[in-house]
Amino acid sequence: MKPRVEIRDLTVSYAAGDRAICALDGVSLSIAADEAIGIVGESGSGKSTLGMAIGRLLAPNASFDGGDVLVEGRSVLRCTDPELRVVRRDRLGFVFQNPMSALDPTMRIGRQIALALGLERGSAEINELLLKARLDDPATAAASFPHELSGGMAQRVVIALAIARNPAVVIADEPTASLDASIKGAILDLLMALGRDTGSSLVIMSHDLRMVARRCARIFVMYGGRIVESGASREVFAAPRHPYTQALIRAAAGNEGPGGRLEPIPGVPPVLHRRSEDCAFAARCVHAQAICRSTRPPEVALQGRVVACHFAKDGVSTPAEAAAAT
Ligand SMILES: Nc1ncnc2c1ncn2[C@@H]1O[C@H](COP(=O)(O)OP(=O)(O)O)[C@@H](O)[C@H]1O
Ligand SMILES: [Mg+2]
Repeated sequence: MKPRVEIRDLTVSYAAGDRAICALDGVSLSIAADEAIGIVGESGSGKSTLGMAIGRLLAPNASFDGGDVLVEGRSVLRCTDPELRVVRRDRLGFVFQNPMSALDPTMRIGRQIALALGLERGSAEINELLLKARLDDPATAAASFPHELSGGMAQRVVIALAIARNPAVVIADEPTASLDASIKGAILDLLMALGRDTGSSLVIMSHDLRMVARRCARIFVMYGGRIVESGASREVFAAPRHPYTQALIRAAAGNEGPGGRLEPIPGVPPVLHRRSEDCAFAARCVHAQAICRSTRPPEVALQGRVVACHFAKDGVSTPAEAAAAT
């Protein structure tokens, strides 16, 4: 079957003063029908740029420097503006971090949903959609303005809007980042359930590796605008191969060491001004060698995993593995 989305060696930069910022440095991935994938990485790694690129929705100072993005086989970079509008309206759904910014503050929820569904006026379909999004009192929700809803309810409405037209792909960029910890899981579960119901593929961007790995079958770890590791979530989480993935897992909530402490990743993510000619993680990597600072690591396929690390084949070991081996 044709992939829903295919991203081929995509390079994107932003104009910023007199220097460009390279946000995507040769990203390739494909998303199959009915698949849910997770994209994880620290802030600044390029997740949002990747998500927005799927709908050619990047900021005006962005430029596509190379590669292509295909939605259901069609290049969104090369299609005409009217074609692009149809793809965005009918084939893609977006869910962002802040639900309030996705909703029109001046319009009742019911009306916004009617517009998304292409309906003339209120109808049973609106209630049905709100019920699907687990808003227990759909009539009240439909009659409300966005500011009258809690953050969680507003995000349920945004999810309802995103799936209203049975899109090919729903792109959810940090969909729970602005929400109360107690409802994050429920909102992600709703996204997963509605994605399955409507047959939409899902792309979930998050810095919470654990949350995403638990729900998405495949995971892509981004760093410095590249995908540094990808594979089956369970395997990546259980046995990360890239030192960055290992560090990310050690730094994640739920992995507190003795004394309840997490091990943060020392240093900060890079801001790249051009495509990397070395490993962008080398400056923070405990295993880095001379080659890491001089040569761009190729993407190496290893038992269902793709890893961009010079030492991926040797299986750079985690401290725990190293300790176990001695
Ligand atoms: N509109 C913009 N103008 C300039 N730089 C940007 C813009 N948007 C993002 N960037 C930069 O691009 C890089 C990737 O950002 P982003 O895609 O937002 O990553 P993430 O979503 O993982 O935090 C970062 O260095 C960020 O500062
Ligand atoms: Mg982001």
